[in-house]
Amino acid sequence: NSLQTFTMSVNIHINSPNVKYTDTHIFAKYSYESTSVQQDGSNITVTPRSTQMTFRTERRVPRLGVMLVGWGGNNGTTVTAAVLANKLGLTWRTKNGEMKANYYGSLLQSSTVCLGSGLEGEVNVPFRDILPMVHPNNIVFDGWDISSMDLGRAMERAKVLDWSLQEQLRPYMSCLKPRPSIYIPEFIAANQESRADNVLTGNLTEQVEQIRADIRDFRQSSGVDKVIVLWTANTERFCDIVPGINDTAKNLLAAIQAGAEVSPSTLFAVASILEGCAYINGAPQNTFVPGAVELAMQRGVFIAGDDFKSGQTKIKSVLVDFLVSAGIKPTSIVSYNHLGNNDGKNLSAPQQFRSKEISKSNVVDDIVQSNPILYKPGEKPDHCVVIKYVPYVGDSKRAMDEYTSEIMMGGLNTIAMHNTCEDSLLASPIILDLVILTELCQRVSIKPQGEEDFQSFHSVLALLSYLCKAPMVPSGTPVINAFFRQRACIENIMRACLGLPPQNHMMLEHKLQ
Ligand code: NAI
Repeated sequence: NSLQTFTMSVNIHINSPNVKYTDTHIFAKYSYESTSVQQDGSNITVTPRSTQMTFRTERRVPRLGVMLVGWGGNNGTTVTAAVLANKLGLTWRTKNGEMKANYYGSLLQSSTVCLGSGLEGEVNVPFRDILPMVHPNNIVFDGWDISSMDLGRAMERAKVLDWSLQEQLRPYMSCLKPRPSIYIPEFIAANQESRADNVLTGNLTEQVEQIRADIRDFRQSSGVDKVIVLWTANTERFCDIVPGINDTAKNLLAAIQAGAEVSPSTLFAVASILEGCAYINGAPQNTFVPGAVELAMQRGVFIAGDDFKSGQTKIKSVLVDFLVSAGIKPTSIVSYNHLGNNDGKNLSAPQQFRSKEISKSNVVDDIVQSNPILYKPGEKPDHCVVIKYVPYVGDSKRAMDEYTSEIMMGGLNTIAMHNTCEDSLLASPIILDLVILTELCQRVSIKPQGEEDFQSFHSVLALLSYLCKAPMVPSGTPVINAFFRQRACIENIMRACLGLPPQNHMMLEHKLQ
């Protein structure tokens, strides 16, 4: 019933002297409650702090353009097709009956936030209605691919969507053609070479200039107000961080001029940052070398990544959090995957697999470190990740995990799970959440009391951690992998924009006599 109610948007109005709506903005006076903790051996002193601040959210939702690097891949075609199908309200028949386009798997479109209780009990509203934000149906897509296939044929190559849906979408998808891209063969697996028939030529500076020109061309020809660029192309091998080459913004720009080793994904990041467009990395490689991060900070542009948190890692960041916070000690986590799509083919090469292995490996660190009762300093569970390419299963990825934990009095608990689903149907809603949240963050600014000006979030947009396997955070700040902490962070910051306190789940109104 409530699902039906919320196929339409709801309007939320905050009734508080601390919240002011103007034609252009929502201003919310907010008291940020935090603590400062001092530890001296076993003596710990905790000092509560209140910091007064004002949140300012721009109300006008712009027309958003999203440029995907790797547009002709499984994720690129699937997310584009899914948005089209939703926009057109398509239905299609399968052997299981009639299907209807939806956005399941999207935090913003398909999950809810509890605003509190009314006369008829709890009121849960769609996440997307908390603040003014872009609706995915209104996103305009464009992008690049080293493969020249139009999106109609590329959708068929991906083998993700049901055939009868593809037939309905083909007339629209066939008109979309990826722009030629930057291809430096040694960064992705050699088995990708046969796809590369749509590549830019010229030196690195010329190629970066072309990408910048593409962004400007798209912005102008489509009439969008804003462009966000997102890498959903093949996983690259890691780059060495070399002083003098990619350690500072100046050196990185000089390295591009000199034709030194810079990965295609970093070249895209640089082009995007220089055009003032946020850049998101959905793959595991270290695109954001220190020079790229510095460039983003200098230009005040958002960057975020790395690697979509879509399946196995998402479960890991829930399950290990649950075990450790229940006082149970995971001691061994072993994860196998096999998949048969082009991502799996690329990851079958050792250097590209290594990028994925690294990004999958740190996901339990913060959770383990949070519990010194279970783990000695430096102690970690054994953690092993295996990925195999099995063409027959296509995009339908299998993930098999075994979690062994110590329970009371020397007992052992083993949980084994088997997970099957289409990888790209998990990644596509995440792509939408990433770009929509990034765009929203561009319209939020915060003024701590006593400061002159409103400031925006740090260029390294850690708020997107929920959607990333290896979240990037500003240097020296904590990385949070635990799933519900990440979700609560997004929810509570959005509540703060409306002057609402964090969701505390105390429900005292129901607990007193
Ligand atoms: P895919 O292989 O189907 O698509 C990648 C596309 O990128 C291909 O069409 C390829 O031709 C293109 N490409 C390669 N190098 C390029 C370049 N330099 N410029 C432009 N295009 C280029 O892979 P899929 O399944 O779409 O995944 C995309 C990326 O997302 C991979 O790196 C994958 O590891 C990452 N990812 C995917 C997840 C998922 O599908 N659930 C989860 C986490 C990450």
